[in-house]
Amino acid sequence: MTNKVELKSVDKVFPPQGEGSPVVALANTDMHVRPKEFVSIVGPSGCGKSTILNMIAGLLDPSSGEIFIDGKVVPDRRKHFGYMFQKDLLFPWRTIRDNVALGIEVLGVPQKEARERALAILQEFGLGGFANNYPSQLSGGMRQRAALMRTLLCDRDTLLLDEPFGALDALTRSVMQEWLLSIWEKDHRTILFITHDIEESIFLSDRVLMMSARPGRIKMELEIDLPRPRDHTILTAPRFSELKRIVLDQIYEESVKAASST
Ligand SMILES: Nc1ncnc2c1ncn2[C@@H]1O[C@H](COP(=O)(O)OP(=O)(O)OP(=O)(O)O)[C@@H](O)[C@H]1O
Ligand SMILES: [Mg+2]
Repeated sequence: MTNKVELKSVDKVFPPQGEGSPVVALANTDMHVRPKEFVSIVGPSGCGKSTILNMIAGLLDPSSGEIFIDGKVVPDRRKHFGYMFQKDLLFPWRTIRDNVALGIEVLGVPQKEARERALAILQEFGLGGFANNYPSQLSGGMRQRAALMRTLLCDRDTLLLDEPFGALDALTRSVMQEWLLSIWEKDHRTILFITHDIEESIFLSDRVLMMSARPGRIKMELEIDLPRPRDHTILTAPRFSELKRIVLDQIYEESVKAASST
């Protein structure tokens, strides 16, 4: 089976800022995501997680190494992905409906159609009643859901999600995770998901990739052999705890390294 996305020996070096030295953000990174797989990346702050997504999405190019999409090196990677950025903000002066429509509007869908499709997805996922409200009138969880809908609306078979629930409290986060899984179980897109939250990565994923401290690379990967469909009750299952222990040990080691190098 051809991988949906594959990185081979990818390095990323950022040029020096002023008098400083170059930043080696990623060194010799290998990873892949299979079609329809849900893969999470966890790793300490600054290890290069967002840089990986930016490179896959075609916003940055690797300094060396190669990125394959469906087994091929493609000239423009941008059109292959729905991307939710780490701080994917809604515009305060646009209604929720117009914010959700924006993602496909910039892809060239006529405004009228974009607004219709935005309303349909808001209704499908329980925000129809807020379509004409402004972001400031919604809770943090609702805003995050709207930002995710903007990404989902782009008909791409692969989604890149950079800490989409990072700003939420634990309870809202848990509801959002179940919501995302219910969508993914219906339409089975490929998802590459970044998070700092180890439980979140295990709960959601087929496979968790753990990164080393900077310069980042994939240090270890773990198949998550928990049954699906999953709901929050699985968080207390013995197998869940075992998997969590494995990830925690790896990440703790890297986080100590990251903290002592800054
Ligand atoms: N455009 C840039 N120019 C220079 N350095 C950069 C640039 N983008 C990222 N970096 C550096 O590369 C490293 C990796 O950054 P990146 O944002 O990918 O980390 P991250 O794992 O996403 O961190 P976090 O968990 O805090 O979001 C950091 O040291 C960062 O300062
Ligand atoms: Mg980041």
